[in-house]
Amino acid sequence: MKIGLLGFGVVGRGVYDITADMDDIQVAKVICLEDITLPDAEVTKDFRSILTDDSIDTVVEAMGGLHPAYEFVRAAIEAGKNIVTSNKALVCTYYDELIPLAEKMGVQFRCTAAVGGGIGWLSELERSRRVQPIERVGGIMNGTCNYILDSMTRLGLGYDEALKQAQALGYAEAKPATDVEGIDTWHKVILSSNIAFGVSLDSTTVPVAGISKITAEDVTTFTEHGYTCKLISTGKSSDGKYSAYVQPTLVTVGQPEAAVPSNYNLITLVGKYSGRMSFFGQGAGRYPTAYNVVQDCADLLHGKGFYCAYGEKVAAVNDDLLTYYVRGDLDAWLEDNTSERWGSAVITKPVSVSAMHNWLKEHPDAFIAAFAENTL
Ligand code: HSE
Repeated sequence: MKIGLLGFGVVGRGVYDITADMDDIQVAKVICLEDITLPDAEVTKDFRSILTDDSIDTVVEAMGGLHPAYEFVRAAIEAGKNIVTSNKALVCTYYDELIPLAEKMGVQFRCTAAVGGGIGWLSELERSRRVQPIERVGGIMNGTCNYILDSMTRLGLGYDEALKQAQALGYAEAKPATDVEGIDTWHKVILSSNIAFGVSLDSTTVPVAGISKITAEDVTTFTEHGYTCKLISTGKSSDGKYSAYVQPTLVTVGQPEAAVPSNYNLITLVGKYSGRMSFFGQGAGRYPTAYNVVQDCADLLHGKGFYCAYGEKVAAVNDDLLTYYVRGDLDAWLEDNTSERWGSAVITKPVSVSAMHNWLKEHPDAFIAAFAENTL
C-alpha cells in the first residue's frame, strides 16, 4: 500500500514513524506546508501531485479541521483513492456526502482513530454489529473533559487551572471550546451511533451540554453526596426509535466511569447477546491515534473497508425521563419541576432530556448534570 499523507502534525508524524518499520505499508508522499525533508517520502505542498499519482492507492487525512480537509478528501475519493482519517468533525459533518460518494466510487473509507484515539472502538463496534443488534453506545469520549473533571474532583483544582494543564499536555483541540462545550463528544457519539445502528443520525436532533460552567462548589457538592461528575455521551436504539445526547452526568462511586482517571476514555456498547462491553484507553495523543490510523490501513490491505453500508437519515427522539442537578435561574418551569434543593442548586423531578436541554438553551449560563440511571 502506498499512502499519500495529508498533514505532518501530531498524528501525521506518528503515522510516518509507525509505517517506517513496516514492509507492506509505505508513506510515499507527504503534504506539509513547512520546509522539511524526510528520508523515505517525498514532501510537497501540492495536493494535486497526490491526486495524479497512480501509485498512491490510499490517502490518509491527518490535517484536522474542516477546510481544506473536506475538499482534499472529496477530490481524493473522486480520483479513486481509499480514505483513512482520524478527523471526527470532518466525518460527522460530511457523513451524508462522503460515505455515499465513496460507495459510488468503489473506494473504501475508514476512520477508527476518530473516536477513542488509540482504542479500537469503532472497529470492535463494527465486529459486534455483525452478529447482534446494538442497543446502546456511549460513555467518556473526551480526554480533555475527563482530565479537567478528574483534576477538579481528586486534586481540588479550579476549572481554569485544570483546563490550562490539559492544553499544556496537548490533549485539547485547537479551540478548547470544542472539547469543553461537548462538541468533540457530540461528533463522536453521532459517528458511533451511525455505525452501531446503521443509520445517519440528524445531528440537529442531538442535544449537547458541556462542562464549561462547572465550579469548584458544584464538585464539592457532588463529592459530599457520593457522586462524581463525568461528561457522558449516550446513543440508544430500541424498536426503530433512536435517542442520542451529550451531557455532564453524575455517576456513583462503584460505577466504572467514576474511576476513569486523567485523559482516559471509557466507551461502552450494550449488545443483545454480549450485554455490556467497555473499552478503556488513551483517547488522544500522537502514537495511540496514529496506531489506529495505521490499523485502518492494514484493514484495507486485508479487504476490510466500510464499517457498514450508509443508512437512512433518522431523527433522535430524546424523551427519556431523567432527574437533573441544575444551578441557574429558578424560573417558573424549573420551580414547577423541582423536587429538592442542594444549596443554591435544585434537583429536578424526572423531566425529558429534550425539555431539560431546551431549558438550557434559554439559560446558557446555567450548569446541568444528569443522574446516571438509564444513560450508561
Ligand atoms: N481533544 C480530544 C480529546 C482529542 O481531548 O479527547 C481526541 O479526539
